[in-house]
Amino acid sequence: MGQKKIGIMVSGRGSNMQAIIEASRDPNYPARVELVISNREEAPALEKAWKENIEGVFIPGIGREWERKVLDLINEHGIELLCLAGFMRVLSPEFLAQAPPVMNIHPSLLPAFPGLNAQKQAIEHGVKISGCTVHFVDSGVDSGPIILQKGVEVNQDDDEEELAERILRIEHQLYPRAVELWARDQLEIEGRKVRIKEEKGHG
Ligand code: GRF
Repeated sequence: MGQKKIGIMVSGRGSNMQAIIEASRDPNYPARVELVISNREEAPALEKAWKENIEGVFIPGIGREWERKVLDLINEHGIELLCLAGFMRVLSPEFLAQAPPVMNIHPSLLPAFPGLNAQKQAIEHGVKISGCTVHFVDSGVDSGPIILQKGVEVNQDDDEEELAERILRIEHQLYPRAVELWARDQLEIEGRKVRIKEEKGHG
């Protein structure tokens, strides 16, 4: 089976992008990163993509014009799934209507602590368990149908960095897994719910 082409949208470090790239080195992994798009020229993720010989593009600008350029580029490359990975912009409903499916990873157990500084929000709230969520993107902030979640314990002396680091380790497992499920056609959206189907050929 061929690998489906995915695009990754970034604004920063790119460790989740890197985790997906590493997963896709396995010839049995059903997707490969074809294109990386950044809205920030200085995003370290771009350099990481270039090192992997993946086309990494900084697209300047804002608003509909910016989104139009992104859509043109992803169409040119035949991108079938867009993964937001540390991408710090909200995409418009018009963009989402025209784009392929879009996924995001968020460092909390949604619907708790959407938006910025999720790990800090979790610590300040005093929760005992937090984690990460991969979800499909809708026009809200971190509000779309949930694909996968995994929890981690919050230790009472954790600071934001320690918790972020513990969550990041599981993000790097969860995001490639969610992409894999999508690429194997195992995800079915029913309203707010994402059902995970058995892999074809396994009953
Ligand atoms: C991750 O914590 C992700 O959950 C959030 O932004 C951070 C991005 O990190 N959306 P990286 O750029 O993937 O290293």
